[in-house]
Amino acid sequence: MACHFRRAIAGLISKAARIHEEKIVPLIQVSNPKTSSEGEFLLPIKPLIDIGVLPPDSVESGTAQDTIANLTNRISCQHPVLKAVSNKYGIQFSVDQALLIKSVLSKEQEDREQYGRRSDLFGVRKGEKVVVEYSSPNIAKPFHAGHLRSTIMGNFIAKLHHALGNKVVRINYLGDWGVQFGLLAVGFQLFGSEEALQTNPIQHLFEVYVKVNQAAEEDEDIHRQAREFFRLLEHRDPTALALWTRFRDLSIEEYSRIYKRLGVQFDEYSGESMYSYRSQQVISQLREAGLLQITERGTGVVDLSEDNSMSFYSTVTRSDGTSLYITRDIAAAVDRYERFKFDRMYYVVDKSQEDHFRQLFKTLEKMGYTWADRCHHIKFGRVQGMKTRRGEVVLLEDILNEAQRQMLDNMQQAATTKHMDNPEEVAETVGITAVLAQDFRGKILSDYKFDWNRALQSKGDTGVFLQYTHARLCSLERESGMLVPDSCDPALLQEQQALQLLQQIAGFDQAVHKAWTELEPRHILSYNLQLSHLVAAAHKSLKVKGSPKDVAEARLLLFHAARVTLANGMDLLCMTPVDRM
Ligand code: ARG
Repeated sequence: MACHFRRAIAGLISKAARIHEEKIVPLIQVSNPKTSSEGEFLLPIKPLIDIGVLPPDSVESGTAQDTIANLTNRISCQHPVLKAVSNKYGIQFSVDQALLIKSVLSKEQEDREQYGRRSDLFGVRKGEKVVVEYSSPNIAKPFHAGHLRSTIMGNFIAKLHHALGNKVVRINYLGDWGVQFGLLAVGFQLFGSEEALQTNPIQHLFEVYVKVNQAAEEDEDIHRQAREFFRLLEHRDPTALALWTRFRDLSIEEYSRIYKRLGVQFDEYSGESMYSYRSQQVISQLREAGLLQITERGTGVVDLSEDNSMSFYSTVTRSDGTSLYITRDIAAAVDRYERFKFDRMYYVVDKSQEDHFRQLFKTLEKMGYTWADRCHHIKFGRVQGMKTRRGEVVLLEDILNEAQRQMLDNMQQAATTKHMDNPEEVAETVGITAVLAQDFRGKILSDYKFDWNRALQSKGDTGVFLQYTHARLCSLERESGMLVPDSCDPALLQEQQALQLLQQIAGFDQAVHKAWTELEPRHILSYNLQLSHLVAAAHKSLKVKGSPKDVAEARLLLFHAARVTLANGMDLLCMTPVDRM
């Protein structure tokens, strides 16, 4: 859409400032329709400093304005660029508006489903292999808000990379190993029910786990039995293994069903259990490389400090020689590299594990794996106060049910709900969108307070508002009684509301790109919210029904483009747009 113009503008600047055109293209922005008055495109001041056109202190010293004014004077405009002016934001460019409208709206110019997905322009490397590990709950332990955040954040990162042309592998790395499985097995003999395990495995195993932990406080023997069971498990005892496999399989089955409600998928369910054997190889490897040191307490550690001072180290074995969480992670990383030869790997895990990942990556580096720097920890902040009727959330399903129930309550008050065939389904989709939007509002590293009421509000910057806007645009198309035309006469879209909406649509790829460079979904969310506000304003003043045919068609096309863009943006955020609500 806007690429053609970005190139044209970059070409002019390149001539005037003798900088390579390719360097400038990604810096050209579609101006924000709410604040721009002097042109549809903007070259902001900051990136000019970044690429060395302006000295770093030029803004403070006041020379920046003069330099860009000079540069602007040297630009000789050429169609489709009509005018360049410098102001406090940078250099603003006015372009042939009719051409811009045409390129944003007409079908032939660009496949609409692909809006925003043209990454070539911004130097996004296509065809890279990207591994994203996310969700990764622990079997029999609560699926807490942190896991939910990892699930939706990871899903977003995977979707975004896929949309931009990368090959993505999605991995769920389950906490499915450790002495807690011994406890669980003993607990199952004491408190388990075959029937409950079949019908509700996640909840049942959690209940058993809670009960056996309580019982173990009074009865030391339970711990002994648990350790014994885990020892058998580590030695692949068939009976122990069979029970463990059942716990794991049934849990995965149920998880998959719940993930599906959320629109989340994985290419593989992996887990710590797969690396208990290989982590022994890691230990030997560390020993042979002379990296393993045995402490006085008998634990095995790797010195990760620069000056061999042990000021930074990782513990990789217990005193009995068994592996730890990090040892299994080392083995898993090596295995993933061998299988996928990834260009990048993201671990989407809450910030409390920051030290763990720092140690992991440094250990890999020490072991001589040159790809260690391709591994990244995407850390995110805590969610406070996510509660359901049952109290503090322990199950993912509770959150989804609660979102659906509360949304259905709200919808019951609306007249349109009565005519709906599938209010439960709509309530679930919209409820989940509300949860996602609340989560994606701020920087991912910030903590936030979860609030059902705020999330489910239909006005204001919420997921419900996005869904409402989408449904409204769908109904506008349905009720127009017309087919969306392929193109229109730009002269029919000259109202301020129409032009602002067009400009917003033109800036979609930019929002996607920003979200990709920073790995921050909020850029797409706020883009979508601003788009929805502009749709609301345009909807009020630009009537489709009752307008002369050519005007009605032009407006219908504009609203259609807005709807497709909104839907594409929502899709990247893992929200399923609804047609009615
Ligand atoms: N299961 C872990 C937990 O719930 C998260 C796993 C994170 N991923 C990893 N490769 N260590 O805390």
